[in-house]
Amino acid sequence: MSGEKIRLIVVGCGDIAVSRHIPALLANKDVDLVAICDTDGERAAAAAERYGIRAHTTDYRKLMRDGSVDAAIVATPPWVTPDITIDLLRAGKHVLCEKPMAILPEKAEEVARTERETGKKVQVGFTYRHDPLLEQLRDWIREGRLGSPRYFRIGIFDEVWDPVGNPEHYRRIFKTMEYGVPSVHDGAHIADFLHMLTDSPVKQVHAFGYKSRSEFPASNFDTSIIDFANGDRARLEIGWFYPQFPAGEFEIVGPEGIAVFDRLNRSVELRTTDGVERVNHDDDWWDTCFRIQLDKFIVGIRSEQPLVPGTREGIYSLTLTKQIESAIGGPKERPV
Ligand SMILES: NC(=O)c1ccc[n+]([C@@H]2O[C@H](COP(=O)([O-])OP(=O)(O)OC[C@H]3O[C@@H](n4cnc5c(N)ncnc54)[C@H](O)[C@@H]3O)[C@@H](O)[C@H]2O)c1
Repeated sequence: MSGEKIRLIVVGCGDIAVSRHIPALLANKDVDLVAICDTDGERAAAAAERYGIRAHTTDYRKLMRDGSVDAAIVATPPWVTPDITIDLLRAGKHVLCEKPMAILPEKAEEVARTERETGKKVQVGFTYRHDPLLEQLRDWIREGRLGSPRYFRIGIFDEVWDPVGNPEHYRRIFKTMEYGVPSVHDGAHIADFLHMLTDSPVKQVHAFGYKSRSEFPASNFDTSIIDFANGDRARLEIGWFYPQFPAGEFEIVGPEGIAVFDRLNRSVELRTTDGVERVNHDDDWWDTCFRIQLDKFIVGIRSEQPLVPGTREGIYSLTLTKQIESAIGGPKERPV
């Protein structure tokens, strides 16, 4: 497969597939996007027409029977993603599945087991860990520039509450909340950042949930304190569904200095007693991260190397976010 194009399908033609995955695939000369699928046939057809994709269907099983297909991107809600991933692995396909890779740890373990049994590979869509600026932060930490232990101050706010202006989005996020607090969903990326940056097991978690509207099925503003075995501590604020967002933050405070990550203005800064070091990138954060994520998936498929972030990273992230959720105690009743 080394020189040939990777023949790939996309399962799930929702927001992230249509806005990011499909454009990244079409821009990549190593990929042949052969077909897309969504249980909502109108969505699949609209995406196929918009991007000139030659085939679309409502049943991914039809596509996975095609022996010439090498791989799939699964961009479905996380309560269906693991079963689709397992089916595709058993059909002999490599899979890039969206985060979180499941909402139940036992399902994530089943995916990892199937990966081992089939010898096909899984990459988990922790897209933003591929940001070169985040890698710069990790390098500063590894070089000891901040000293140790470190205190992470991270606040991420997303998903505007706008039931009148955007009812489809309102219904989608409301339903997602029935399957987990925001830490399980958006927090999946943050838990992965912490895994990458602290490189240490979690020792204990304290977390508190706050619900800004009584009709919400779960808290929509999570605050957690996470202690790591290496002495690092993180304070996370992850919030959803506000009409206006408070300022986000991403700072790492160490005995030797502070690192500040401004993902949207594309800079990282290291402030120590020796002065200030700043790295800027003049690029689009989304484009960069989705392009690198796909490049790594292709390299991983073509080589003997395991895919990173893979199921190991997916399970670390889910284990941590489920610890946060269980400390918060929500949502009350989860649909089956
Ligand atoms: N990596 C990132 O940056 C990023 C960003 C946003 C969302 N996500 C993740 O991507 C996933 C999808 O998010 P979204 O915002 O696109 O959601 P979405 O609801 O807009 O899209 C999901 C799509 O999957 C389809 N679907 C459901 N079950 C299916 C099945 N069995 N077969 C085929 N299609 C099926 C739905 O009809 C829908 O169109 C979520 O897990 C989310 O957390 C990741």
